[in-house]
Amino acid sequence: MPYKPRRSALYMPASNAKAIAKARTLDCDVVILDLEDAVAPDAKAVAREQAVAAVREGGFGSRELVIRVNGLDTEWGADDLAATAAVAPDAILAPKVSTADDVRRYAGHLGGRAIPLWAMVETALSLFRLDAIAATAPETGLAGFVIGTNDLAKETGAHLDTLRTPFVSALGLAVAAARAYGLIVLDGVYNDLDDDEGFAVQARQAVTFGFDGKTLIHPRQIDPCNRAFTPDAAALDWARTIIAAFALPENASKGAIRVDGRMVERLHLAQAERTVAMA
Ligand code: COA
Ligand code: MG
Repeated sequence: MPYKPRRSALYMPASNAKAIAKARTLDCDVVILDLEDAVAPDAKAVAREQAVAAVREGGFGSRELVIRVNGLDTEWGADDLAATAAVAPDAILAPKVSTADDVRRYAGHLGGRAIPLWAMVETALSLFRLDAIAATAPETGLAGFVIGTNDLAKETGAHLDTLRTPFVSALGLAVAAARAYGLIVLDGVYNDLDDDEGFAVQARQAVTFGFDGKTLIHPRQIDPCNRAFTPDAAALDWARTIIAAFALPENASKGAIRVDGRMVERLHLAQAERTVAMA
């Protein structure tokens, strides 16, 4: 499959028509129209209508269009799923998934349509069920995890700071569970809208964790995020060097070789090819 970038995934309340219009011109890879926590109860119906209309109207170019629905335990969840499944966005993002059965319940509301499901990883319980949740992928169409650090902080009482020390185990396990079952995995949001320096630090941390990208809450976070997740010139150079080294006839039957004083194995070749694809 060709590499599809999901470096930057911008949330917006689907009640905000202006934000939806603006999203069609922004340089983010993914647009997430939110019906859930960013939308007040009395705006839920308008948000649903506008999200459905946005999918119908299109105009988002190569950006993936994702709708985050309300939970099935709320008065809006079932109607959100019915309405969004009917227009089939690129994915439907399910909130507050705690168990494998939660994913099955969301999948059961798609009317048999093969729409990729993404699941929020944001409840304390889910952290002990990530393996079982991710393992539902072939049966439910689950295709991605999105970390919800704000809800995790709320549930656990842990404090969210730039480097998120109390959350590192959760972040690492979510990435591992996603990779084990071929899901994409996106990092949580950075709440401090005006702190560019802190954002850059956290985005770099997300890259080191192995995330495919990061969820965002404001357009100004898009460029620094894309930059963080795009391999820099040195990384690209190194990847090309590895690919060239393994292409030499004398290395054709070797598993491990020496390149510029470092051991390089065939597993690094696969990573190098991914880096080049991303670039
Ligand atoms: N998506 C698209 N456009 C956005 C945006 C977003 N998430 N956030 C801001 N904008 C737009 C504004 O509409 C405004 O556009 P304009 O210049 O054409 O008028 C411009 O960017 C500047 O906005 P700004 O005044 O800096 O933001 P704000 O103070 O009005 O709003 C928030 C701040 C946090 C309320 C807003 O950014 C937001 O709603 N973010 C997303 C929240 C969300 O979806 N949360 C759920 C997941 S955690
Ligand atoms: Mg949440």
